[in-house]
Amino acid sequence: MRKQLEQLRREAGEALDKIKSLIDLEKAEIKLLGRKDGKLNAMLKSLKNLSEKEKKQFGKLANEIKNEITALIAEKRLDLEKKETLKAVEEDWIDVTLPGIKPKQGSLHPVSIVQYELEDLFRSLGFMILDGPELESDYYNFEALNIPSHHPARDTQDTFYIKGKIQKSKACPERNRGIKSKENQERLLLRTHTSPVQVRAMQEFGAPLRAIAPGRVFRYEASDASHENTFCQLEGLMVEKNISICNLIAVMKTLLKGIFKRDVKIRLRPGYFPFVEPGFELDIECLICGGRGCSVCKQSGWVELLPCGLVHPNVLRAGHIDPEKFSGFAFGLGLTRLVMMRYGINDIRLFNAGDLRFLEQFGAI
Ligand code: PHE
Repeated sequence: MRKQLEQLRREAGEALDKIKSLIDLEKAEIKLLGRKDGKLNAMLKSLKNLSEKEKKQFGKLANEIKNEITALIAEKRLDLEKKETLKAVEEDWIDVTLPGIKPKQGSLHPVSIVQYELEDLFRSLGFMILDGPELESDYYNFEALNIPSHHPARDTQDTFYIKGKIQKSKACPERNRGIKSKENQERLLLRTHTSPVQVRAMQEFGAPLRAIAPGRVFRYEASDASHENTFCQLEGLMVEKNISICNLIAVMKTLLKGIFKRDVKIRLRPGYFPFVEPGFELDIECLICGGRGCSVCKQSGWVELLPCGLVHPNVLRAGHIDPEKFSGFAFGLGLTRLVMMRYGINDIRLFNAGDLRFLEQFGAI
C-alpha cells in the first residue's frame, strides 16, 4: 500500500509538471483527486480492508499526499493563469503609436468633376438640374422633338432599340417624368441625346422654365479617338416670354467664360436640328493643338462644341406650351468632348475603359 501511495505521489508530481494549460490541469485534477474515479479516492476506499493500525498509518500518508497534490495543483493553477493572461494581453496588444493605414479613397470621374462645376454655374443663373431616363421612348427621343419616323434626321442618330415597355423607376422617381401616356411606353431605345428631357421638363414644369439636364447618351457608332457608343451631354433649356438669339448668345458667352476661365475663340455656323429654328453650331478653337490641327479636331483646328438654337414651335407644343406666348432657346453641350478639351485628353475611349491609371489622375474627392 505504501508503495502504491508513494508511486501515486511521484506520478502526480511528474504529470503536473508536464501540464501547460488550465484545461489540462482541470482534467488531471479530476483524474487524481476526483471523488468518483480519482486515483487517490480509489486507494482510500481500499483502506477499509486493512487492519486498524494500517488504516491509521496509511490513512495519514494518503491525507498527506492528498494535501500535497492539492497544494501542487493550486500552485500550478496560479502559474498557468498568470501565463495565459499574459499571452492574451500580448496577442491583443496594439501599438497605438504606429502610423495608421490610410484607407484607399476613390476619386471623381473627370466627367463628374466638370459636370458638377457646370451645375454650379447654371444654378447660379437660376437653372434647375434635371435628370431623365437613359432608356427612352421613341416618342420623347424623336417624335416630340419634331423628328417623325420618316425623317432622315433619324439616320444621323442611330441607336440601340430594346424590346419591352418602360418600367417605372422606384429609386429615382424623377426619371418617370411623362411616363403616363400610352404612346410613350412602346418602342424603347437608348436615348441618343439629352434633348428628350426638354419636352419632359416642359410638360412637368410649364413656362417660364430654365433647366439643364446632364447625362449619358448612346449612339450606334464605330469608335475611334473621337467617337464612342456611350458619352455624356449636357442639355440646356430656357423658355420665357420674348426669348431671342441675343439671350442665347449671352448665356453661351457666360457659359464658355465659366468653363475655360479665359477667352476662347468661337464661331457660329448655321446648323440643322429639327427641334430648333434657327439652329446653330457653336465651335471653339481646338485647345489641344491651339488651332493647328490634330486627331481630335480632325485637322480642322475647330471643335464642334455646342449645337444650339431657338426651340421649334412644334417642340413647345409637345411640351404643352403655347408658342404664341413663349419662346425659348436650347443647347446640347458635348460634355465628354468638353472634358477632353479641359484636360487635354486625346482619346475618348479612355473615359469608359475603367483603367485606374487614367482615372486616378483627376484628384481625390
Ligand atoms: N440633341 C442634339 C444632338 O445631340 C444637340 C442639340 C441640342 C441641338 C439642343 C440643338 C439644341 O445632336
